[in-house]
Amino acid sequence: MKPLIAANWKMNKDIKESVSLINKFEILIKNIKNVEIVVCPPFTSLNEVNKLIKGSNIDLGAQNMYFEEKGAFTGEISPLMLKDAGCEYVILGHSERRQCFNETNELINKKIKAALKNKLKPILCIGETLEQREKNETMKTIENQLINCLNNINEKGMKNISVAYEPVWAIGTGKNATPQQAEEVHKFIRKLLLKIYNKNIAENTRIIYGGSVKPSNIKELMKMENINGALVGGASLDAESFGELCNIK
Ligand code: PGA
Repeated sequence: MKPLIAANWKMNKDIKESVSLINKFEILIKNIKNVEIVVCPPFTSLNEVNKLIKGSNIDLGAQNMYFEEKGAFTGEISPLMLKDAGCEYVILGHSERRQCFNETNELINKKIKAALKNKLKPILCIGETLEQREKNETMKTIENQLINCLNNINEKGMKNISVAYEPVWAIGTGKNATPQQAEEVHKFIRKLLLKIYNKNIAENTRIIYGGSVKPSNIKELMKMENINGALVGGASLDAESFGELCNIK
């Protein structure tokens, strides 16, 4: 399966900075065909970045959205608006959304359904906190998040979803999960997908890893059987380092 490497810029880069980053990055990765590359800028830069990447090997994604299509929801962005701005992907359920904005599995489930309905491909983020890991609750947490976020989503929908395993303790801390720690959880997620769906879905869903991915650790992570790509925060803010990350083979 073709790996997916996605850049999550978070709340960084104004329009000018986004343009400059994309212009530099595009040159560095123009010959890459064996990886699907997605960039997720802040909302304000989506339109401009979309114009720059037209016809390139880079796809556009957003970092969040609301589940309603339009109406009186001050401050929110709808799936239709993301489509209009050129998005193909949307990150949903990121741990920062869960922690800073109290997003629940139930809300994330509604967002996934709305994204699918509007032909956006969700990148569903799940992951345990340090406390949960230390209490040996990693698998229980993952199972609970995955099952509830995917509630009532059928096989057809699941074909368009990627799952990102992002241990919260590894995000922005410089402390990544070891390839073995990540693989253990990825394998567990694949088993759960087999339980909920079928063999085809379980085998072909991309399960990507996120949490302090950088050029120095991506190769080891990608050697693992069940790691099909990466969701990259900090190291995606620099064209050279994200370029290097996308050159994984
Ligand atoms: P990080 O962030 O690479 O800076 O750890 C990853 C993420 O939050 O998606």
